[in-house]
Parts: sequence; C-alpha cells; structure tokens
Amino acid sequence: MSRKILILQGHPDGRGGHFCHALANAYAEGAVKAGHAVGTIDVASIEGLTFMTDPADFAKPAPAPIAAAQDAVMECDHMVIIFPLWLGMLPATLKAFLEQLSRSEFVLGANDKGGWPAQKLKGRSAHVIVTMGMPGFAFRLFFRAHGVKALETAFLRISGVKPVKNTYIGGVEAMGDKGRKGWLERIRNVAASLR
Ligand SMILES: Cc1cc2nc3c(=O)[nH]c(=O)nc-3n(C[C@H](O)[C@H](O)[C@H](O)COP(=O)(O)O)c2cc1C
Repeated sequence: MSRKILILQGHPDGRGGHFCHALANAYAEGAVKAGHAVGTIDVASIEGLTFMTDPADFAKPAPAPIAAAQDAVMECDHMVIIFPLWLGMLPATLKAFLEQLSRSEFVLGANDKGGWPAQKLKGRSAHVIVTMGMPGFAFRLFFRAHGVKALETAFLRISGVKPVKNTYIGGVEAMGDKGRKGWLERIRNVAASLR
C-alpha cells in the first residue's frame, strides 16, 4: 500500500548538514524506493515562524506558511518527526512550530455532542526519530523519555494519531562513520518496509 508521508525536519539549524538531515534523506530514499509519496517540511526554514506570545492567537487562523503546513499535515497519512534532543526535550523552534500548527483547533476541536474534543488528526500514524548525545538506553531508563513522551501524548495521541513509533538514536556525537552509516541503513529499511 502506498502511503503519503510527511517528514517534519525539526533540527533548528536551517543550513542543514546535521545527522538529523541525513536521517531525513535516508527515510525519504527508503520510502520513495518502496513506492510511497514523500513531502518534507524543514521547520527551521519556515518564513516568519515566530514564538506564540499572545494566547488569543491560538484560536486565530494561522499565517500563510503555517496554513500551508497544516494542509500538508492534513494530506499525509504518516508523519515522521525528526529532531535532536536539546535539554532533554524538543528544540524550541520545533515546539514553536507545533504551537503555531495547532492554531484554530487544527489538532483538537469542539465536540458538538459534548465529551472528549474531536481528534482532528485521526487516521494518521507517526514515527518520532530523536538523536541525542547520551546513550539511548539512558534517555529511556533514567529520563523516562519524558521530553519526548510529552510530544507523543500532548500533540500526537491526543489528536488521534496512532500508532506512534519511537526511535532514539543515542551517542550520536561519538558514533563515528560506521555507526552513522548503520543507522542510516536501518532508517532506510524502516521506511522501505512501511505498510
Ligand atoms: C543546546 C543543546 C542541548 C542539548 N541537550 C542534550 C540533552 O539534553 N541530552 C543529550 O543527550 N544531548 C543533548 N545535546 C546533544 C544533541 O542531542 C546532539 O548534538 C544531536 O542529537 C546531534 O544530532 P545532529 O547532528 O543532527 O545535530 C544537546 C545539544 C545542544 C546543542
């Protein structure tokens, strides 16, 4: 089955060239080879992306570049969110993007019948890929992966996205070429085997 995949590149450095960018390329390569359609949003390159400061803006329609991102999310059926772990959580640029993206009830809406709000992203699945300096097991074991679980529960699962897969790539800075190539191959294969 061919899927419509949207890669959200969450590395804050819009110049590219980081391992997160190589991982996104590897995912796209594997997915395209398997016949999936792939689009990418580079969060750091979104023109005019700002931090939300006025809570009233949350209810207002998003500005054009964010509205285009909302359309891309609506059109996809699988999201791949890639980012480096910064201070145990998402880099601020990615968080700012997700706050802007969630404007005007984009992910959660009023439910006419009362009860749980309408989950607007139902029917989509996600894969969250996080790089980090510490070993991946340390993030799971000692940090309980809290910083990433917040993304999972407060953005993805609450809006109906499931299943959500996680890949934690630890020890990235000390990894060396061989280790990096191994991960790129693994991610290429995961993308190619997506059904
Ligand atoms: C501002 C900043 C904060 C960071 N915080 C953490 C952290 O909390 N835990 C960790 O394991 N690594 C941390 N790192 C290391 C990055 O996660 C690591 O450099 C990154 O995942 C490498 O991927 P990249 O080559 O795509 O940038 C931090 C790096 C920076 C620049």
